[in-house]
Amino acid sequence: MFNQEELQEIETLRKRYPEAKAMVLPMLWRVQEKQGWIDDAGMEAVAMVCDVPKSHVWGVVSFYTMFFDKPMGRYHVQVCTNVSCMLNGGEKLYAEMKSKLGIGHRERTVDGTFSLEEVECMGACGGAPMIAVNETFFERVTSAEASDVIDSIRSSNTIPAPKHIVQMPELSPAANE
Ligand code: FES
Repeated sequence: MFNQEELQEIETLRKRYPEAKAMVLPMLWRVQEKQGWIDDAGMEAVAMVCDVPKSHVWGVVSFYTMFFDKPMGRYHVQVCTNVSCMLNGGEKLYAEMKSKLGIGHRERTVDGTFSLEEVECMGACGGAPMIAVNETFFERVTSAEASDVIDSIRSSNTIPAPKHIVQMPELSPAANE
């Protein structure tokens, strides 16, 4: 499952961990980056490299929601409905995204372009409500803006730049006293 270059990377990675078992998370990231999700063969390969049973790898994959055990869309849309986002319209945004994309939680559009996920806090509470598409965060997003993001991806096949960049306040030394 891994090519020569990847095998070399694994050997470099191995030197950073005292036990092979500790490499399960970084190995799973590599598999997901390579093929978009973690299939049976991927889990077997990780189990072999990390010298753990496949059931251990499956336990990790099924515990962390950021690992996908089935194919997701090229553009993975995440809508936060945790407290800050919920209080600022996150649940409404999620319902609108479900309706716009015609899919539900952890489902994928037939053409494989989009998948949708209702997520817990993504650490951007100061910009609530927020959605994310792959690694791009859209904070203080309105229904219309969220809808435009999807339309823009459909027409240009790229993720547009977010309209609002929410800066967190600097912590001054005085703030820590
Ligand atoms: S509650 Fe939505 S990012 Fe924290």
